[in-house]
Amino acid sequence: SEKRKLIAGNWKMNGLLQEAKDFMDAFGSNPAPDHIEVGLMPPFTLLHPMADRLAEMGVALGAQNVYYEDKGAFTGSICPMMLRDAGCHYVILGHSERRSIIGESNAQIRSKMNASWLHGLEPILCIGETLEQREKGVTNTVLAEQLAVLKGAPKSAALTVAYEPVWAIGTGLTASPEQVTETHAFVHAELQRLGHDCRVLYGGSVNPSNAEELMGCPGVEGALVGGASLKADSFMEIVKAAA
Ligand code: G3H
Repeated sequence: SEKRKLIAGNWKMNGLLQEAKDFMDAFGSNPAPDHIEVGLMPPFTLLHPMADRLAEMGVALGAQNVYYEDKGAFTGSICPMMLRDAGCHYVILGHSERRSIIGESNAQIRSKMNASWLHGLEPILCIGETLEQREKGVTNTVLAEQLAVLKGAPKSAALTVAYEPVWAIGTGLTASPEQVTETHAFVHAELQRLGHDCRVLYGGSVNPSNAEELMGCPGVEGALVGGASLKADSFMEIVKAAA
């Protein structure tokens, strides 16, 4: 693929100020070659404290969620302009943990995408099937439903998609290269049909030992890394494996 690969670290609900400082000290000057983009999505509380140093390192900053209203009486919520103000380029939307634990719907995800685009954020739209769905043979149906949030969206809108099989998240299990290749081909075809020729990342237990094989699968244009992005050395090794 000719698209620039993105290796993005999703810290989820992990990370205190001191850990963020230690991570940035260890990460040092970003060792990624030009054709690889590196991004980090720490919790909201670390966005401002990490923004300047990450920018100096050439690491893109992102958030893990956003609310779709602009401002006002929405206690506990964060709006797109606040994320821009904190230095974010990316925002993860529709992560399976938010879909399953918080009960986030495709409709809410679409509202969040629109709000993100309006304020210049690039959504990383997460999609993925559960083990039960894969075993029932409905993986493609589920993925198509999740991608249908893109219907009617402006074709030029900045977008990255992350395919994350739910059964591979935080479990140490990864999809096989065959499953990854096959599913990414379907996701790319579906995106093409919807008019979005965007990057598709793989996510789910990516680590330094499997990264090279996973990143080498056709149609894989980067990774969304959870657990292995918390330590600078393992995250750096994944970046190198993708190069
Ligand atoms: O957003 C990241 C994914 O949920 C993967 O998490 O690498 O810990 O399996 P993981």
